[in-house]
Amino acid sequence: MSQIQDYAKEVQAWVTEMTGFLEKNRLTEQHVLEQLNRLSQLSRQLQKDDATKEEMTKVEKEVTLAFREINDLMNRNTRSRINQSVPIGKHTLPPLPYPYNALEPAISEEIMRLHHDKHHQSYVDGLNKAELMMKRARETNDYSLLKHWEREAAFHGSGHYLHTLFWEGMSPKGGGQPKGALLKQIEKDFSNFASFKKQFSEAAKQVEGVGWALLVWVPRTRRLEVLQSERHMNLTQWDTIPILVLDVWEHAYYLQYKNNRAAYVDQWWNIVNWPQTENRFMEAKKLVWKPY
Ligand SMILES: [Fe+2]
Repeated sequence: MSQIQDYAKEVQAWVTEMTGFLEKNRLTEQHVLEQLNRLSQLSRQLQKDDATKEEMTKVEKEVTLAFREINDLMNRNTRSRINQSVPIGKHTLPPLPYPYNALEPAISEEIMRLHHDKHHQSYVDGLNKAELMMKRARETNDYSLLKHWEREAAFHGSGHYLHTLFWEGMSPKGGGQPKGALLKQIEKDFSNFASFKKQFSEAAKQVEGVGWALLVWVPRTRRLEVLQSERHMNLTQWDTIPILVLDVWEHAYYLQYKNNRAAYVDQWWNIVNWPQTENRFMEAKKLVWKPY
């Protein structure tokens, strides 16, 4: 098959994936969908045997335009949502801030698709259900099943919020070490970055069963701390704000690393999004409580 036809097929697959993504996230602005439709027709024409280089150049230009439009649409959507609260039972799955294969080789595309689309989605669904059932309990003044729904809200709520942090805490351009205020605080509280990284890795590797390793800011002590969480609703310090989290549930690594969690943890450091982590730390740092 010629290079032109290969390219046409790639474009066709991209258009299909993008259209699905936009529809799933209810980002259905008419002109963007029309543009993708046009691109789909052009790429189909390009798959014919007599397609020319000129036609391919035309499609390349259309792809650039469509990419820009989609980016603008997503930015507008983020700006309009930023000041909104989430109504009861209306949580939604955040889109991944990078493509599914962007974290390879540390985390495979197959895991990212399953982990984000299936596991995280089920936390979102479970949290919405728990919130609605607790709302119903308030409305009917029937709290006989409250304990169950509180557990569900903690389990699915922690799952939803921690996974949202987990995706943001990684980047295809990640790795290295933090800068600025976060680095200074790490050096103050852990002596140096190397001993923080060692403690965080050990905490992740030594979680009993499934769970997380977390770097947290403790507003009451004004210090960073490394915590372990078994599963994710147990042993939680509710008075803390997660800054950097690492998913060590089997579904995060087993397909790729089998039982070698340590290798997965070590690889993960290459995709940490430190600038984003520092932003989150700076926001969290604004919270201050009376120390005792
Ligand atoms: Fe997970």
